[in-house]
Amino acid sequence: MDISEKKLIIAIDGHSSCGKSTVAKDLAKKINYTYIDSGAMYRVVTLFAMRNNLISSDVVDENKLAHHIDQVSISFKYNNEKQRHETYLNGELVEDEIRSLDVSNNVSLIATIKFVREKMVAFQRELSKAGGVIMDGRDIGTVVFPNAELKIFMTADVEVRAIRRFKELKEKGEDVSLDAIRENVQKRDYIDENRDESPLRKADDAIVLNNSNLTPAEQLDWIVERMNEIK
Ligand code: CDP
Repeated sequence: MDISEKKLIIAIDGHSSCGKSTVAKDLAKKINYTYIDSGAMYRVVTLFAMRNNLISSDVVDENKLAHHIDQVSISFKYNNEKQRHETYLNGELVEDEIRSLDVSNNVSLIATIKFVREKMVAFQRELSKAGGVIMDGRDIGTVVFPNAELKIFMTADVEVRAIRRFKELKEKGEDVSLDAIRENVQKRDYIDENRDESPLRKADDAIVLNNSNLTPAEQLDWIVERMNEIK
């Protein structure tokens, strides 16, 4: 049977800013699967918390957030003109705002909170019910879909990742320094790997992809080869 008809679940986990979403989107297009960006969901909750002054000096007011979390409704829509999926918070387009360095600086803190993770994981499973999904994140192969047919663990050298993210934000017109981005990438990796709830780790059956020296086209070919090996 053709891969497109198999409706598999493909989990891509790994470090910050290593190109998971790039390869996940490219693959989704190629094999006609749905791409789901789990990180965007944590970013939306973070934006909501920031707007409601629930984060100060690296501390989250968890009681208030728990009280208001049901007011957070996340949705995704495809923008034909920009040819990309865009993220909405309660119907408001927040795609660019959630990618800012400000949100990046708070998101890993929000992602340590158990009730936030439970809500996001439930939503991720709900969206994937029909299968044929590629999802990227930190806990997709370990917690969200432990039975995923293909699990990739992606990483790249810190400097390479910082430069990639720096270019991306500069292109969007954000005034950021490479040092600030490198610091953010390293800090998020540390929090993601050391938190109690669903820490970032390679699933035992995940295949490692270090893409420090690969172009987007090369990393896509690499994943397609892995897909073709699935029995
Ligand atoms: O694009 P980038 O790799 O920089 O980050 P992202 O995928 O948008 O995820 C943002 C943050 O959300 C991560 O640094 C994690 O702290 C958190 N996250 C998570 O805990 N679990 C996921 N499944 C996805 C993201």
